[in-house]
Amino acid sequence: MLSFDVITLFPEIIEQACSLGVIGKAIGAGTLELRTHQLRDWSGGSIHPLDDSPYGGGPGMVMRPEPVYAAVEAVEAKHGTMRKLLLTPQGARFRQATARRLSREARILIFCGRYEGVDERVRPLFDEEISIGDYVLTGGETAALVLIDAIGRLVPGVVGRAESLDSESFSEPLLEYPHYTRPEEFRGMRVPPVLLSGHHAEIERWRRERAIERTRERRPDLLRRQEPDEG
Ligand code: 6GU
Repeated sequence: MLSFDVITLFPEIIEQACSLGVIGKAIGAGTLELRTHQLRDWSGGSIHPLDDSPYGGGPGMVMRPEPVYAAVEAVEAKHGTMRKLLLTPQGARFRQATARRLSREARILIFCGRYEGVDERVRPLFDEEISIGDYVLTGGETAALVLIDAIGRLVPGVVGRAESLDSESFSEPLLEYPHYTRPEEFRGMRVPPVLLSGHHAEIERWRRERAIERTRERRPDLLRRQEPDEG
């Protein structure tokens, strides 16, 4: 069991996306729990906007610290201590190893930033700051969905067969081998004969070779790098 609490200006994005597929089923079954929280509920009323102009000038708006603290403290007071994550493009890169580590938590709080950024003084409130990659999103909501999916599917019972988790890309640092299903020939493209041979050792060897070859072609960085994140 793992619970996610997401604080956001757009709870509907999180709710709707998480109502479907594997994650939606897990929430329905009680294996995962999801609560969303509207940040505006802690803005202090309509005369207090959530954002304000930056000290020192410059373009854009900055999210004020008071509503962020109020929201996080209220959610934690109600549901218990959480691993608190701040999603911003300045965070540490989210990796499979990060997902693995976070999947062992009991409660995770995700705060989705908006506007140009958040007041620097919110940072001490969080246990870690996470980015999902080197590009800029308009807000943290889609990043939160990436985290919920990648972390949630590692929680025992969320994905059906345990084995379908461990042979895949990024469990070991190789890309997946190519997969085929029926028909044997499709638009002139044939299934590699070894897969029809019934020789399990040869099939394993072929898959391993293709995985290494594909990784070398597409992601040579994975062969050089030992994951810097925790196991
Ligand atoms: Cl977590 N937020 C935003 N706004 N942009 C991002 C990101 C997060 N991760 C990568 N780009």
